[in-house]
Amino acid sequence: MDKHHYSPPLNFKRWIDDHQHLLQPPVNNQQIWQDADYMVTIVGGPNQRTDFHDDPMEEFFYQFKGNAHLLIWDRGRYERLDLREGDIYLMAPHVIHSPQRPEPGSLCLVIERQRPQGSLDALQWSCARCGTVIKRYEMQLSSIIHDLPPVYQQFYATSDEQRRCSNCGEIHPGSDWQAWHRTHEAVKHS
Ligand SMILES: [Fe+2]
Repeated sequence: MDKHHYSPPLNFKRWIDDHQHLLQPPVNNQQIWQDADYMVTIVGGPNQRTDFHDDPMEEFFYQFKGNAHLLIWDRGRYERLDLREGDIYLMAPHVIHSPQRPEPGSLCLVIERQRPQGSLDALQWSCARCGTVIKRYEMQLSSIIHDLPPVYQQFYATSDEQRRCSNCGEIHPGSDWQAWHRTHEAVKHS
């Protein structure tokens, strides 16, 4: 993004149409402007995950197509926060959240801010059964597209024993998000 000159507006719908192929698996998200203070991304479904994000800044969501939800870890329990089609949501800093986008073709506008030096992000993985944090990785984030995949790889490379919950003994299934969500659902309904 040119810091000294204005750039022309984009037509939102046309931008979506032009990037449709990147808003689905395996990529699922695209940042509209590079090197800007506002990191404006479009995130598509289907995409489900088990990592939780601790963002030192606010995040804005506009779920403009289809439905999604955020799993939140708050006050010692998991909670589900629905983002229904048409919802806007402003999330406070440091709300531990894991976006779940099970619907193919769903689209969400997400706006984040560049992190000031010293304001750290974290990705963490927690026990599906009791919520105890299994691994937490902190980082000075500069790119939400490029800085996170290496952290997933680092977590996925851990052994079952390294992913065993220190509280209840449950083994976190690593990259097998379906297994994690099965356990999470089973515990929730037990
Ligand atoms: Fe546990």
